[in-house]
Amino acid sequence: MFGSCKIACAKNAYLPILAGAILCDGKVTLKNYPNFLDIINMTNILENLGAKAKIQDKNLVLDMTSLNNYEIPHELATLTRSSIFSLGAILGRFKKARVAYPGGCEIGSRPIDLHLKGLEALNIKVLDRRGFITCDGENMRGGVVNLDFPSVGATENIMMAGATAKGVTKIINSAKEPEIVDLQNFLNSAGAKISGAGTSVITIQGVPKLNSVEYLPISDRIITGTYLLACAICGGEIELHNANIGHLDSLISKLSGNNCRFWNKKGRIIMQSGKKHKSISKIETMPYPGFPTDLQPQIVAMLSTAKGTSLVVENLFETRYKYVNELSKMGADIMIKDRSAIIRGVPKLFGASVNSTDLRGGVGLVLAGLMADGFTTVGNIQQIDRGYAHIENDLSKLGAEIKRIHF
Ligand code: UD1
Repeated sequence: MFGSCKIACAKNAYLPILAGAILCDGKVTLKNYPNFLDIINMTNILENLGAKAKIQDKNLVLDMTSLNNYEIPHELATLTRSSIFSLGAILGRFKKARVAYPGGCEIGSRPIDLHLKGLEALNIKVLDRRGFITCDGENMRGGVVNLDFPSVGATENIMMAGATAKGVTKIINSAKEPEIVDLQNFLNSAGAKISGAGTSVITIQGVPKLNSVEYLPISDRIITGTYLLACAICGGEIELHNANIGHLDSLISKLSGNNCRFWNKKGRIIMQSGKKHKSISKIETMPYPGFPTDLQPQIVAMLSTAKGTSLVVENLFETRYKYVNELSKMGADIMIKDRSAIIRGVPKLFGASVNSTDLRGGVGLVLAGLMADGFTTVGNIQQIDRGYAHIENDLSKLGAEIKRIHF
């Protein structure tokens, strides 16, 4: 692979920021609108709440003064998981909310107990949870939330509920992902008083309301990691612009010294890689700054032809190995036992017709197809489109032979 491309804004930063826009009584301009299906769906949710949205010079411009609806219907909520973390923001704006259960990737049971417990700690009443989650926030106020697990979505939901709740909210054992820091920065730019994001305690001093804001969300660390792994899989030299190497320490440390070298120059990452790699004795997915679960299928694709046996442990989502059946059709030798994948490296993979089982699993199959002998066809690519805007264009710029076929 030889070439360069620009990394888009992060899906997982843009989505909660769009939810945060619900709190803003004014004009919200979000720069570099990334054309991912999940983000288009979330924009539709905002329009359904009464927002006026338009794309202007690649930016999303939202008029949030006209919001008049506190309900997210089933047909919109099931399209994206972000509907659930809109709950806190809708409550902040309307003091009541009715949100259908969320959709998103089929990668595990994905409960929402931590979200609801957190909201209850802010004196919000969950009135009903059958089909719709109906909440009364008339008496919502700051409170202390102790998260049993540093859930990204629950942390974001509570930050948004606390932003305009009277008094001080503390989230203890909060998630530390860069997207949480970005949400804090966005909300603060709109007038919120939040501190501590990026650490395990976040403090929110409630303010009466949030205002107009213009904001550029961070670049997507998962897309960046995906393309770095594509380069590791194929060998070569690539340059990624608008990329933050500091958000990918856990991946870089696994690849450095394994026939890969990296340079970082002011938002650009340059990577050189040979084609062959050694196995990695153990990778465990963990909350940030641990190895991201969203890069698990892509690194398994790489390890499927590494020399020796690797072990990957998936700690976040129990059914995130569905794509492995498809990878096996290409000749990979992978055994799944509970949360572990034991990967015996094979000399090469072979092209096959496979199907995306979920967003990141589908991308793992695309990467496997890049190194496989012969042609690979990946189906069900609307899964991939949820988090990559025409992945084939970026990968072509990086030197891959790939195209989208419309039947
Ligand atoms: C977010 C990301 C997703 C990423 C994940 C973990 C977005 C839009 N999505 O998802 O891409 O894979 O973080 O980095 O940002 N849990 C509970 N109860 C809850 C909430 C979560 O038990 O109420 C569990 C989940 O089942 C899972 C773990 O906590 O095992 C992590 O989930 P969480 O951090 O909440 O992930 P999401 O916010 O859904």
